[in-house]
Amino acid sequence: MTQFTCSPGGRVDGSIRVPGDKSISHRSIILSSIAEGTSHISGFLQGEDSLNTIRAFQQMGVSIKRDQDQVRVCGVGLHGLEKPGSDLDMGNSGTAMRLLLGLLAGQAFDSRLIGDSSLSSRPMRRVIDPLQSMGATIESEPGGRAPLQIKASNGLTAIEYDMPVASAQVKSCLLLAGLYASGETVVREPAPTRDHSERMLRGFGCEVLSKGSAIRLPGKQVLVAHDIEVPADISSAAFLMVAASIAAGSEITLCHVGINPTRTGVIDILKLMGADIELLNQRDIGGEPVADISVRSAELTGIDIPAHLVPLAIDEFPVLFIAAACAHGTTRLSGAEELRVKESDRIQVMADGLTVLGVDAQSRDDGIVIQGGQLGGGEIESHGDHRIAMSFSIASLRATKEIRINDCANVNTSFPGFVELARQIGIRVTVDAG
Ligand code: S3P
Repeated sequence: MTQFTCSPGGRVDGSIRVPGDKSISHRSIILSSIAEGTSHISGFLQGEDSLNTIRAFQQMGVSIKRDQDQVRVCGVGLHGLEKPGSDLDMGNSGTAMRLLLGLLAGQAFDSRLIGDSSLSSRPMRRVIDPLQSMGATIESEPGGRAPLQIKASNGLTAIEYDMPVASAQVKSCLLLAGLYASGETVVREPAPTRDHSERMLRGFGCEVLSKGSAIRLPGKQVLVAHDIEVPADISSAAFLMVAASIAAGSEITLCHVGINPTRTGVIDILKLMGADIELLNQRDIGGEPVADISVRSAELTGIDIPAHLVPLAIDEFPVLFIAAACAHGTTRLSGAEELRVKESDRIQVMADGLTVLGVDAQSRDDGIVIQGGQLGGGEIESHGDHRIAMSFSIASLRATKEIRINDCANVNTSFPGFVELARQIGIRVTVDAG
């Protein structure tokens, strides 16, 4: 079992580029595989999750060649995918499973999606139900869990769907199925969520209309191959934003980070807490805004996290809870029940870990209340959740004793090279691969 051991204290400094955006990397493979022609992707995330997505499309007959973070995909067109010879294993990735389910629902062949134990316990009804109303036939385990068996489709019909949860995965799943449906698919979201799918579909020449809370996609459109530059992942950069904020005397520049406004909740929340964050060299790269982010240490203050920022920072809460633990006063989060169905129950797992460190952290059904204070040390269970493992590594900067974190191998799903990079900038973490 991979364990991280973090010695207390330290500060961070340097100028670094974190690995490519996971959401954009998944989508770049999916869309270029069903496009007409060859697409080149640069800055691709070489993490387990996105590599599984490459493998799945190779299993469906797509020629994909990768050299480090450069990927060449020979698209087979909307109807060129082949029946995979075996199960498609999505590993730990909810995004890959839900997006592929939408795509597979429209194929003329049977397929089966599987995942690891965490993914096999995550809710899939949220995508199965609307896909079934489009005419898909999907069998799941009790409670709508994976493995998922998808039957060959003889045509989908577009639906209008009001999403009960604000989820970019559900939205993207339905847009991908909508490409195979007759008619116009309309998805309405209860709150804005990441819009990488819509932006990238437009990049591939598709008509996608976003107006108010509705996204409209006419079916049966041809995608035209298109090169993609993947920016650095703001969700990975977030760990280092918090590191630099909480450790006195720190100054860090995070280069070429995606700052799509549907992802920048972490910056808004940290700034509300008093963080010193500046966006430099803002530019547009292939339809996605990018910037260099400069962060200096600052005294943080607890806040009530505004509800509208919750979906815009959904993956960054574990490390934001570390910021809250280091802040003066109380931080309250509510309306974030989705955190309970991520790679782990992130509300409970973070509350338990913070309690081990001696922080007053009270979980609520839909959030948490954290009293800022002194962080001690101890042994933390990450429950195989990459973002929990990285969050407690960052906490060590303000701890008074050693922190040991168990079950850390999944850090490789989203942030390969995390430990090396963290050490390079001053975090005192070592790995024991057990
Ligand atoms: C993602 C959407 C989010 C996020 C996940 C990646 C995506 O999930 O938590 O890590 O790439 O679409 P939800 O949209 O279900 O909240």
